[in-house]
Parts: sequence; C-alpha cells; structure tokens
Amino acid sequence: MKIAVVGLGRAGLPLAAVIADSGFEVIGIDVDAQKCELINKGVNPIPEEIGLDELLTKHGGKSLNATPRYEDASDCSMFIVIVPLFVDEDHNPDFSVLETALRAVGRILKKGDIVVLETTVPPRTTETRIKKWLEEESGLTFGEFLVAHSPERIMTGYSISRLKEFPKIIGGLDEESGKRAFEIYKKFVPNIHRVSSARVAEFIKLIEGCYRDVNIALANELFKIAGELGINFYEAREWANHEYCDIHLPSTGVGGHCIPLYPWFLIKELERMGKFGHARLLRTSREINDEMAEYWAEKIVLECLKVNKPLHEVKICVRGITYREGVKQLYESRNLVVAKRLMEKGLKVYVYDELVSEDEIEDMGLRFCKPEHADIVFDSFRLTTRIK
Ligand SMILES: NC(=O)c1ccc[n+]([C@@H]2O[C@H](COP(=O)([O-])OP(=O)(O)OC[C@H]3O[C@@H](n4cnc5c(N)ncnc54)[C@H](O)[C@@H]3O)[C@@H](O)[C@H]2O)c1
Repeated sequence: MKIAVVGLGRAGLPLAAVIADSGFEVIGIDVDAQKCELINKGVNPIPEEIGLDELLTKHGGKSLNATPRYEDASDCSMFIVIVPLFVDEDHNPDFSVLETALRAVGRILKKGDIVVLETTVPPRTTETRIKKWLEEESGLTFGEFLVAHSPERIMTGYSISRLKEFPKIIGGLDEESGKRAFEIYKKFVPNIHRVSSARVAEFIKLIEGCYRDVNIALANELFKIAGELGINFYEAREWANHEYCDIHLPSTGVGGHCIPLYPWFLIKELERMGKFGHARLLRTSREINDEMAEYWAEKIVLECLKVNKPLHEVKICVRGITYREGVKQLYESRNLVVAKRLMEKGLKVYVYDELVSEDEIEDMGLRFCKPEHADIVFDSFRLTTRIK
C-alpha cells in the first residue's frame, strides 16, 4: 500500500520518515519544491530533529519520495494531511491552507481511499469542512471514501521517539473509517488507540493544550502573588508539589504554534454557539499568559533603575528570544514580545540567542549584542536579571 503525507513540515516530515521506515512506500507532498529536492537527496531540513538525519539518509529519494505535485500521489490509497492552520488577529481560525490541501487531495481521490487529518483543528472540522471539500472535489460521496482524524502529538526535537512511544489516538467519521484507519496506523505507530469518533479525537488534542495553558497561567499567577508577599515561589512550589499537585513553572507567557492557539479554537466555537461563559477559564488563562510579557518588561525597567546610568542609556540584553529553549522557532514567541515591550518604552534594547545569528536578528529589525557587553541581562528562559 502506498501512503501520501501532505505537508512535510516539522510535524509531517518526521511522520513520513517513520512510515517509510516501517516498510511503506511514501509520497510526501509539499508546495516547497526546494525542500522536496533536499529530502529526495537524503538531506534533513530540520537538523534539530533527533533521529531524522538517519531516516532521511536511509529513505529519502527511495521509499520516501517528496514532490510538489499532488498528481504524483494519485496511486496512493491513504492520504495523511498535516499542513498548518493559523489564526487571524481576532483569534479566528484561518482554514485557507487546509482547504487548498484538502481540495487538491479531493481532485486525486478514488473510491476506497482513506483520508486522515492530523492538523489540530476546531471541533467538528473533520465532519463538516473536510468531508465537504473532499466530496466537492472528488465527485464522490462519503462512504465511497473514508475519513478519520488523528491529531499529531509530537514535540519538535523529539518527534521520532514520540511517534514510536507516545500514545496516539485516532477516530473515524464512521465505524468503517475508524476501523480502517486504526488498522493501517498500527503498522507504523505502535501506541495507537482508537476513540469513538473524529470529533472526540479533535477534542482530545485541544483539551491537552488547554490543560497546559491553564496550568501555566496558574503558575504565572501564583508566581506574581508570591512576589507580592515576599515569598520565594520556587521554594514554595518544590514543597507544594506531590502526587496530586503539579504546579507548573512561571514564564514570559506561552509561545509556539500550538498551545497559545488551541484554547481559542474552543473559546471562539463556544462564543459562536452563544455559550461564552462556558469557556471563561480558558479565556482568562490566555489573557494571564499574554500579560506576562508586560509584567516582565516592567520588572526589567525596575532593575534598570539600579544601574548607575540614566534609564534611557542603560544597555539591556534580552537573552533567549525563541519561544522555547533549544528550538529555533520564533512563532508567537513571548520572549520576543518582552524585548518589543521594552523597545516601546523607548529603552536601549538588544537581543541575544544561542540559536539565532547576528544577521538573522538584524533582519528582524532588532539589535544584537553579546550578554557580556550589556549593562543588564534578562535571561528569558530562567527569568533572571543580572546587572553588570
Ligand atoms: N510542530 C509541532 O511541534 C506540532 C505539534 C503538534 C501538532 N502539530 C500540527 O501540525 C500542523 C503542521 O505544523 P508544522 O509544525 O509541521 O508546520 P510547518 O510550518 O513546519 O510545516 C508545514 C508544511 O506544510 C507545507 N504546506 C503548506 N501548504 C501546503 C499545501 N497546500 N500542500 C502541501 N504542503 C503545504 C509547507 O510548505 C510546510 O513545509 C500544525 O498546524 C499542528 O496542527 C505540529
């Protein structure tokens, strides 16, 4: 059986490589032709992904062939779609990339094929939009082709081991879809579990993100309260946590393209249903986490006042601008927002990050400096400030 993976990004490429490594012939489809060329030469475009180098050397251009042309996958019988879904400024999902990809799959879909959506989506997307786009483009009726949802649960950097070990879930639009998708997936994802529907599968992924966001908001709030009360939060947290209590770590907020987005999928859906109050905690948590950048910017200003220089001459270095330590990703980075908030206050702000070069920093319109050349350094991953 030949399997197509649509979208060879940080989530799709490791999955395509793992499927190829399980003995399947895989066609990877990505609109980025250059990336496809690299993959076919066995070159890994995501170097921080542990284990991907080896898999691409082994399968790139052999059992894993990448192409920008959907028609090259017309003899595949399973299509796994894992392209991004963004949100607009009002936090409403923007389905355009997903629609383009699904409609393109629809145009090569045949009777008996199965489509599995892995992109994290708002509830009921699989049973409404996905089914409709596929039916409209293929001229087939659902039932002649099958549809399931299996949300990607990887963590960039550890995707290969996650796919091999972490529990993955899958749910079909109907009994037959769920059964067929599960039977195929278990050949390349050993820890796969079938749930009762695609809607449940969608929800599982969203609530996992909400749990993280709400708990980080709680940690951030408790951290601020501890500060006001003159209490060392970390000492208190160490002794508060036990089997039934897991207070998270405070932060500058929540970044990346997953956790800060997913609560909005539920908040907005509930708002549309006129049930605003049901998602109050999710909305408040989002707000608390987003406000942390300003909280830290204000704290840094107070530290700057301790430097023996007029405030506007103090050279501030924000160390760490990626959204997470060790991952070269700036999407929704709250550390970057801390730097921007300080700049908006008219201060002399520079940034430094082990993973981002001086040129890349300057291309973003920011100023680079090594921490040792600044008057004050804010380490955004450790939440510490150091005065020279
Ligand atoms: N990266 C993660 O850590 C992670 C974790 C969990 C879930 N996810 C899910 O995976 C989805 C994809 O995320 P990602 O990190 O892989 O994104 P990404 O930006 O790294 O990659 C997306 C890829 O899709 C390609 N693409 C865009 N439009 C296309 C189209 N019409 N046809 C074919 N290819 C197209 C892009 O060229 C790119 O290579 C997310 O929306 C999320 O739901 C990602």
